[in-house]
This record gives sequence, structure tokens and C-alpha cells, in this order.
Amino acid sequence: MFPKKGASEEEVLAELEEKTSEDLTFDSGRILGSMCTHPHPFAAEVVRRYIDRNLGDPGLHVGSQRVEREAIAMLSSLLGLEKGYGNIVSGGTEANILAVRAFRNLADVENPELILPRSAHFSFLKASEMLKVRLVWADLREDHSVDVRDVEEKITSNTIGIVGIAGTTGLGVVDDIPALSDLALDYGLPLHVDAAFGGFVIPFAKALGYDIPDFDFRLRGVKSITIDPHKMGMVPIPAGGIIFREKRFLEAISVPAPYLAGGKVWQATITGTRPGAQALAVWAMIKHLGFEGYKEIVRRAMELSRWFAAELKKIPGVYLIREPVLNIVSFGAGNLEEAEEELKKRGWGVSAHRGYIRIVMMPHVRREHLEEFLGDLREIMLGR
Ligand SMILES: Cc1ncc(COP(=O)(O)O)c(C=O)c1O
Repeated sequence: MFPKKGASEEEVLAELEEKTSEDLTFDSGRILGSMCTHPHPFAAEVVRRYIDRNLGDPGLHVGSQRVEREAIAMLSSLLGLEKGYGNIVSGGTEANILAVRAFRNLADVENPELILPRSAHFSFLKASEMLKVRLVWADLREDHSVDVRDVEEKITSNTIGIVGIAGTTGLGVVDDIPALSDLALDYGLPLHVDAAFGGFVIPFAKALGYDIPDFDFRLRGVKSITIDPHKMGMVPIPAGGIIFREKRFLEAISVPAPYLAGGKVWQATITGTRPGAQALAVWAMIKHLGFEGYKEIVRRAMELSRWFAAELKKIPGVYLIREPVLNIVSFGAGNLEEAEEELKKRGWGVSAHRGYIRIVMMPHVRREHLEEFLGDLREIMLGR
């Protein structure tokens, strides 16, 4: 019921504390299966300070708009592009939808089809439904990356573009983006890379010497990339990123917004009113951490993943789905559903999906949390 009279801030906060007491928090170290994390305190401070900025009406907040452009420029340069075009958006879902929208709007095709790996994120289902684009699923190879030959076989005159994934949601697998890029160039199709998760991991992991395929704008067939600062970028939710290689993609999804207080603009996002604070936080985090700062975060996460994968293998009845590529470790077990239920009962934030449990080594996950988790898992597997 809508309250007739207001309560004091203290009363309201006390009620909120009570109501949220059953939430799992990232700080507790119990959330092991999420791609989100506790945001960096500096990014949280930036969001608090600029909470009123609306990038849906950038004429009012021209300074913030400039900062967003600089954030996009820094992300573009991380991804091997001197000048990119895009926006800080609400997340990977919106970014993927925008890419599909751009490809569809630029293609002169009556029954548009998009070819994407079976491992693709469900955001493409939303894009398909909203944009009336048929999804054509390409098979995976044994290593869980997309089968590029199957992608080629599925190209038709209705194809509007191809999707490759740099860090799949389930296993963190990086598709053979160089081969997809060549294919896209051969057929004159745009390639979208969903690096929602991997975008803030792969550049740093490669610098650390991990052997991971190229995935970014250095490959000429890549026309757009999703990269999410609210995942490994440590920016508060909601902060996704979409970057296009050429202006024409952004123009293809821009609509006029004529009545705004700051004057007429063109919007190329799904949301109208949208938080400027998050864009400023992306900018601030990149400036504050720099390449070296993110590299350290990724180094820790990658090392922890390798150690955890080795420890998992020692537990009877537990097996890895594949060796980790990024900082995601997924494992199966004979009694997976029972194990999942018992882990949940013991207060762990994990879920079984597609026959495995996925552990994401986000910055809030520490070795002591994992040791406790491994102890619980061992007990469950041994039926204790
Ligand atoms: C590869 C990939 N793409 C897109 C998304 C969607 O991101 P969001 O939940 O921020 O919309 C996810 C989320 O896990 C993802 O793993």
C-alpha cells in the first residue's frame, strides 16, 4: 500500500536493512557465480557525486557528454581502435541489442537473419524478438568455441551479420575471432564481438602472457564490440559499453529527440533518460586504475582460476568442463543438482546451468572463500 504519511529516514533505513538482510552480498565472498562485483569505492563515489546527470539530455550536461566521449575513446583504444563511436549503456544486453539493430538497419534485407554461436547470451533472444531478426545458431566445436565452418555454411542472402563471443557466459571461451573476421570480410558482412565479460579481461591477460586469440578492432572484420564496465571494469551497475568501428553504425540507430530541455539531440540508445554518473565512473575508473591497475586485478583473477581449477580436479566425482581460458571455471559432477541444492543450503551463491556450475573469479572472490567452498564441495561429494 502507498503510505499516507512519510516515515523518518532512520525508520525507513532500518526497515530496508531488515528487508535486505537475506540478500547475499559480494563483500561476504559467498557470491561465486556472478559476473558482477562490489564496485570500486572510487567509482561508487563518482556515481554518488554526479547522480543527477542525465545523458539522455546531453544539451544540459555537455561536460558529462564530453567525458562519455572520452570514455568511449579510451575503451576504443584499449580495443585497438583510434576512434570509435558508441555509448555507455545499461549493460551487455542493451549493447548487444544495439549492435543487432545497427546491422539490421544497415542491411537491405526483407527477412533478416543473424548467425551466432550456440553459446551466445540470451540477450540475443530479446534482440531477435524486438527487432524481428531470425537467429541462426552455429554449432560449437569440442573445445566449446564456435565452429567457423558451420558459420560459413549458414550464410545466406538474408544474413545481416555474424556474432562471435570473447568470453562466453558459461565457460569464458573466446571464439576464433580472427577466422570469423576473415569470413565476415570475405562475405562483406559485419562481425559483432560480444566481449561483455572478456573486454575487461583479455587485453590485460594477453599482456600478462596468456595465450588467447585476438578479438578486437585490430581485426578488420570486427565492426562492433560489447564491453561491460559493470563486470570486470568494477563500475557500479548499470554500465555497459557498445563501440562501433564506423559512424554509420551509430547513425543507423539514432533517432531525433526534439523536445529536450537542453535542445534537440539524436539518441542512439534504447533508454532515453540514462545515467551520466555511470559514464563518468567509467572514465574515472580507467583514469584511476590505468592499464597497469586493471592488469593487476586480472593477474589475481587468472591465477586464482588456475589454482582453483587444479584444486577442483582433486575432488572425487568432480570434473572440469574445460580448462579455463579466462577467469571462469566451470565444473560438473555426477550428482550436480543435489550438489547445487546443498551448496545453496550452505549459503553459496552458485547455480547449475547447462549441466555445470560456473565459478567466476570476480575481484571480490578471495582464496579463503574458495578454500571454504572447496571444503564444502568435498564434503558434499563424499556424502558427509
Ligand atoms: C557474454 C555476455 N554478453 C552479454 C551479457 C549481458 O549483460 P548484462 O547482464 O549486463 O545485460 C552477459 C551477461 O552475463 C554475458 O555474459
